[in-house]
Amino acid sequence: MVKKKACVFISGEGSNLRNLLKRSRDYNFPITIKLVISNNSKARGINFAKKYSIPYLIINTKLRNFENLILNNLKKNGINIICLAGYMKIISKKFLRSFKKQIINIHPSLLPKFKGLNTFKRILRKKEIKTGCTVHFVNEKLDGGRIITQKSFYIMSNFSEFELKKRTQNLEHIAYPEAIVKISRINY
Ligand code: GRF
Repeated sequence: MVKKKACVFISGEGSNLRNLLKRSRDYNFPITIKLVISNNSKARGINFAKKYSIPYLIINTKLRNFENLILNNLKKNGINIICLAGYMKIISKKFLRSFKKQIINIHPSLLPKFKGLNTFKRILRKKEIKTGCTVHFVNEKLDGGRIITQKSFYIMSNFSEFELKKRTQNLEHIAYPEAIVKISRINY
């Protein structure tokens, strides 16, 4: 099997990165992670790149040409899929037009509900009975690209924000690898 060469973009904890690193060691998992990019030098996720000996790049997004720097590195590493995993920067239209391969993202809600930030707070405030996570393609609309997979669970009335996050992330760790397998098997 020819694996796709993936770059994972992170900004924080990196639990999805860690999970994808583990999964990508499987011989029949369709991606291999060649590069990790973080816009945050303090992101804990960088430690997982170190642990798995994956090259990583910390990008200073204050630089005017930071996206070109990223694009050059993607090209140099032959990257043909980007997996956003908690990356807190918006991907510009110019970037999307330049990188013509797949870009996918994981979002902690059942899109199209609760796009954007502070999802857990808003979900609790709205007294939703069900929530979950979504893996989707990235396009020019924030959290608006085509949905690849979703997983859901019921919210108990005593759930705190912490509990909601924990449950959602547990599902994310199932959904993200599943979505990657799905797009390798189905032509989008
Ligand atoms: C996840 O909840 C994901 O849905 C959101 O950011 C969070 C990243 O978590 N986009 P981690 O850094 O992978 O632990």
